[in-house]
Amino acid sequence: MNFPSAESGYVMLTQLGSRAGTGGGNRPSEIAVMPVLVLNVHSRCNCRCVMCDIWKRDVSLEVRAADLAWHRESMQRLSVRWVVLSGGEPLLHSDLRSLCTFFRELQIKVTLLTTGLLLSKRAADVAELFDEVIVSLDGPSSVHDLIRGVAGGFDLIERGVGAVRRLAPGIRITARTTVQKANRCQLRATVAAAKRIGLDGVSFLAADVTSEAFNRPQLWPSERQDQIALKAPELSELNEEIEELISGHEGDIRTGYIAESPEKLRRITHHFAAHLGFVEPESPDCNAPWVSAVVEADGSVRPCFFHPAIGSLHGSTLEEVVNGETARSFRNSLIVAQDPTCRRCVCSLKLSREGTSHRSSIWGDELFSNMSLEVSR
Ligand SMILES: C[S@@+](CC[C@H](N)C(=O)[O-])C[C@H]1O[C@@H](n2cnc3c(N)ncnc32)[C@H](O)[C@@H]1O
Ligand code: SF4
Ligand code: SF4
Repeated sequence: MNFPSAESGYVMLTQLGSRAGTGGGNRPSEIAVMPVLVLNVHSRCNCRCVMCDIWKRDVSLEVRAADLAWHRESMQRLSVRWVVLSGGEPLLHSDLRSLCTFFRELQIKVTLLTTGLLLSKRAADVAELFDEVIVSLDGPSSVHDLIRGVAGGFDLIERGVGAVRRLAPGIRITARTTVQKANRCQLRATVAAAKRIGLDGVSFLAADVTSEAFNRPQLWPSERQDQIALKAPELSELNEEIEELISGHEGDIRTGYIAESPEKLRRITHHFAAHLGFVEPESPDCNAPWVSAVVEADGSVRPCFFHPAIGSLHGSTLEEVVNGETARSFRNSLIVAQDPTCRRCVCSLKLSREGTSHRSSIWGDELFSNMSLEVSR
């Protein structure tokens, strides 16, 4: 990518997300503070997951540190505080050191969201370069490997977690589990597996089968959706599993080992019930487009995982994109509670300045629980 120079100058920020204007739901249209950035740093990956088509991509693209240099001042002006490196598979990136060093120099925390297949091989880099690691864990060993299409994948995660821990004993490593047909009865087993391999917590999210995200520009036909979503009898099984998880893991929910509250765990069942038409789909409480952005490996910038791009880092700074006309009019017209995409959303984000309420169902509540969001420097 070839990005132009960021505009210079610095703004003192006093209010989360606010500079001017009022958007849908009485929120400001121009972003002054954008604490969270998700960067899909590599377009390809090393699994064959049943619920995701990213592995089918044949184009190999990377976000490079040199490209981001143009956006350094944008990131400072927008007070970016947390970057999540995802993809594709971020550990396939050819120069993670430069990327992470770039963010470290800006005092931005860096989280790695990974398949974990390369954790062991890259343990030294991961231990040194990242503040936090999230591994995608889709069940106990055999279920995980089946969903991910990689024999021995679970064992590689286990080895990798051990290797990183030996080098960085204090590093937080948690699991993210995408709930779907194949693991609907395995949530408690997933928590047990996560504990056994020494993970610090688990976050559960429903699988999305209806959006264009996860490399599905054509959307999935219903037969393909049915491979991942649940049928009525399976929905009852999931409901039972979630209720057992809630009643049998009160302590884990209380301590945050399981990131979601009972209410949020029950939203997973609700999501699949809505897919079957049994209940109305319901938007989560979310302000992702006002506090975050998602940058794809080709430089396009989205307001969240599911809404269309609002611009590109080719030719504009990050700040110009997130406060450009397309972005502002998108935010002005977005009413999360009514928007059809939002009503099907599985990955919301809610950041606020109240106490420690920095919640995210993208990576689990825990990611933000210790975040003191100082938006004035
Ligand atoms: C797209 S992957 C990219 C990072 C890395 N390749 C990995 O698998 O962790 C990011 C997360 O999206 C999740 N995911 C994949 N397909 C999904 C779907 N259809 N609905 C919801 N989440 C999904 C994965 O399980 C993973 O935790
Ligand atoms: S979930 Fe991650 S590893 Fe699996 S296909 Fe998608 S990008 Fe690849
Ligand atoms: S609810 Fe989901 S789709 Fe809607 S803005 Fe939030 S993250 Fe995006």
